[in-house]
Amino acid sequence: MHPTLRSRNWFGKTGKDGFIYRAWMKNQGIPAYEFEGKPVIGICNTWSELTPCNAHFRELAESVKRGILEAGGFPVEFPVMSLGETLIKPTAMLYRNLVSMDVEESIRANPLDGVVLLCGCDKTTPSLVMGACSVNIPAIVVSGGPMLTGSYKGKEIGTSDVWRFDEDYRMGKMTQEELTVAEACMCRSRGHCAVMGTASSMACMVESWGLTLPENAAIPAADSRRKVLAQLSGLRIVNMVKESQRPSDILTRKAFENAIMVNAAIGGSTNFVIHLLAIAGRIGVPLDLMDFDRSSAKIPLLANIQPSGKYFMEDLYYAGGLPAVMKELDGVLHGDCVGANGKSLKENYSQAECHNRDVIATSSSPFNKTSGIVVLKGNLAENGAVLKPSAATPALMRHRGKAVVFDNIEDYKARIDDPQLDVDESSVLVLKNVGPKGYPGMPEVGNMGLPKKILESGITDMVRISDGRMSGTGFGTVVLHVSPEAAEGKNFSLVQNGDWIELDVPARRLQLEVSEEELALRRDRAHSFVPPVQRGYVSLYMKHVEQASEGADLDFLKGGSGSAVTRDSH
Ligand code: FES
Repeated sequence: MHPTLRSRNWFGKTGKDGFIYRAWMKNQGIPAYEFEGKPVIGICNTWSELTPCNAHFRELAESVKRGILEAGGFPVEFPVMSLGETLIKPTAMLYRNLVSMDVEESIRANPLDGVVLLCGCDKTTPSLVMGACSVNIPAIVVSGGPMLTGSYKGKEIGTSDVWRFDEDYRMGKMTQEELTVAEACMCRSRGHCAVMGTASSMACMVESWGLTLPENAAIPAADSRRKVLAQLSGLRIVNMVKESQRPSDILTRKAFENAIMVNAAIGGSTNFVIHLLAIAGRIGVPLDLMDFDRSSAKIPLLANIQPSGKYFMEDLYYAGGLPAVMKELDGVLHGDCVGANGKSLKENYSQAECHNRDVIATSSSPFNKTSGIVVLKGNLAENGAVLKPSAATPALMRHRGKAVVFDNIEDYKARIDDPQLDVDESSVLVLKNVGPKGYPGMPEVGNMGLPKKILESGITDMVRISDGRMSGTGFGTVVLHVSPEAAEGKNFSLVQNGDWIELDVPARRLQLEVSEEELALRRDRAHSFVPPVQRGYVSLYMKHVEQASEGADLDFLKGGSGSAVTRDSH
């Protein structure tokens, strides 16, 4: 009998209450001794056949259970809403906060002493971590792992090639039949996207905090060592409960700074920004948009992984994994942060070895001196916008061009390939109303494809600006997350065709060259935004979602309510 276990408030009771709590568990064939003071560990599972990246999670959960049993815990697996990036419409991001509520309430309401979070496809990591932070009982993440590298016509491919295939298809260089073959060649194994997209960036984020065991991020889903890591994580969470090691002990301000630096070194996704801000809000760590620029400004690109580089997550694992990248940042990272295995970060990465310098560079000879996330401000983005320089064209880092404006994604799709579109390679493509409220849900459409006539002239990049997001697998000179978004009725909503826009990345500036007087006139004439949905979750989301510069969480979900359950109906 363990007096401090919260599960004893259920299974430790006598009389009618204890009878009810235990009896209905026993219908699963669970012997009485399982209820005698063992730590009860929840396995929060995002398995779903509608989330193909997480479709192997029932098997992974079995490995976690083995570890929990081995350490003397009592495992209970439970489902939460799962978010498959590829199938969910209109966008998985619309539901990230909903899942976080599901996770938070599921953990708090049940007799759990600790929880293992099974995360994979993009949003499944931040949503589970957000929910777990708001309860703050011991938690460890096990990621599902990346797919094996794809192969098409003798060339290694991954999700970033989708954008290239699309351009080839639109240009008539690739047929539908070839596309169909490439689909299976790219997604040839279990796991999430094999490039440094959002899922991989999230897996690196949780490892860089120490919310996972070392090496979690890069082990391929199909590699048997992924199951070993899952079993060891199950074993460890039982001891985390005994030591009362909670997310708030791991997710300190220093740990957030580490995550920003590591995300820069790996060329991680811009979506990292929005998720990290939301998680910081849940655990109560002060973090703002400028922290991303400040903390990553001097971090070079050390991982040669697509879309910023050449290789794939599988290669990163064979080259030494994330610990080998972090070792190169020794002296810059806060090495004294303590992770889930009870060791300091430095202890965890100091044993790492790099086996391939073409995949992981030394900090003295990086792949690119510029990396990380740049935060831009100006009258076009009063609260900020972000750009990923390692995925952009250096020649466009300072650029002035005339706006070609699309009022929404449907307008963009209808006109982008119109031969009459008044656009040239110096133009700045502006896409409005794809922000948190305006879409709603902030889809990944910010790296909008170039006009066909520009592609035909051999140009492959232009400055693009939107209040939306970009897939972590995307690339280009793309300004994202403009805040306030167009639906807020501020300057970004007032841009018109032909306005001059100045992007100056070294000066961190994004400026609309229109006078204040003219902007005031346009503001007077503008129609205010009318939410398109009046009921259900989306209505709740529209009323409460915050801007991207704050993490796009729902305002009433910030912070946490802890693990106490104050009422007992039995
Ligand atoms: Fe799931 Fe890319 S679609 S990680």
